[in-house]
Amino acid sequence: MTILVCSWFNAAALLSLLVLSAAYLLYQLENPDPQTLPCFRMSHDMDALRQSFKMLNKSCFVLGASGETGKELLEEIIKSQLFSKIVIIGRRTLTFEDEMYKNVIQEVVDFEKLDEHASAFQGHDLGFCCLGTTRSKAGSEGFVRVDYDYVLKSAQLAKAGGCTHFTLQSSKGADKNSSVLYTRIKGQIEAAVEELGFDRYSIFRPGILMCDRQESRPMEWAARKVLGPISYVFPTAISIPTSLVGKAMVNNVVLPLDKKVELFENKVVHTLGKLGEQK
Ligand SMILES: NC(=O)c1ccc[n+]([C@@H]2O[C@H](COP(=O)([O-])OP(=O)(O)OC[C@H]3O[C@@H](n4cnc5c(N)ncnc54)[C@H](OP(=O)(O)O)[C@@H]3O)[C@@H](O)[C@H]2O)c1
Repeated sequence: MTILVCSWFNAAALLSLLVLSAAYLLYQLENPDPQTLPCFRMSHDMDALRQSFKMLNKSCFVLGASGETGKELLEEIIKSQLFSKIVIIGRRTLTFEDEMYKNVIQEVVDFEKLDEHASAFQGHDLGFCCLGTTRSKAGSEGFVRVDYDYVLKSAQLAKAGGCTHFTLQSSKGADKNSSVLYTRIKGQIEAAVEELGFDRYSIFRPGILMCDRQESRPMEWAARKVLGPISYVFPTAISIPTSLVGKAMVNNVVLPLDKKVELFENKVVHTLGKLGEQK
């Protein structure tokens, strides 16, 4: 009996320690050094900035507009009315029911022969890239092909075509020296695109994407279920709704240039996504 009580007590103590450690870690992630937040940029009058941006009649393209983040981004781009021309570049034609998509131009390309589609990337001021696949879907080689090769080639063609501001959706934990394939490729593609020397290059590193994903991804689904309550208590620590990523990308384009290369971690993406919201 005494042994049973002792082992129960040990298990409970270990569990409490684990929960406390996890809570501490989440608290740290939720509250990073405040100096890393672009507070000075939040003082801008977003309405005025949007108005000035509109006057510039800029055009943009979106890669990955059929994906979970890409579709939120496209909706936000259209609703913002910031651009005089919107082009989506993808491997298939998309069908839109809503009238608001009627002016969106679609370029269907073969990503294995992107050089043959250079014209699709010409003449855009801004480019947004939300392209990506998973290892479970495409295998390791396929993942590298899409998340590195396709992204880099697209960025090269965009640069050659006159794009001055390129926005890349990368991921939390991206690190070109990582031993984990996913984070390593994300870090490597961030660095490779940086070398192209866009006038402005914005890297977004969101955490786990919260959305109602159409495609079955059991691991991601399970993670989202577990994360649901955690995200409620620590909303910016490890996850972010795709809608907020889209809003953040659009808000960022109207903000004055701070640094040529901007790197936005998950918490800052939350902040950017809410800029200009009515209180
Ligand atoms: N899942 C997460 O929690 C998470 C977290 C942080 C960052 N990210 C990263 O964020 C980015 C966007 O993620 P997401 O979940 O929003 O994307 P998603 O829903 O998986 O959509 C991916 C997009 O890439 C396109 N694509 C995939 N494979 C392709 C191929 N072989 N050829 C051409 N196009 C292809 C898809 O086009 P089709 O519709 O034609 O397939 C779709 O438009 C990805 O780079 C991802 O790694 C994800």
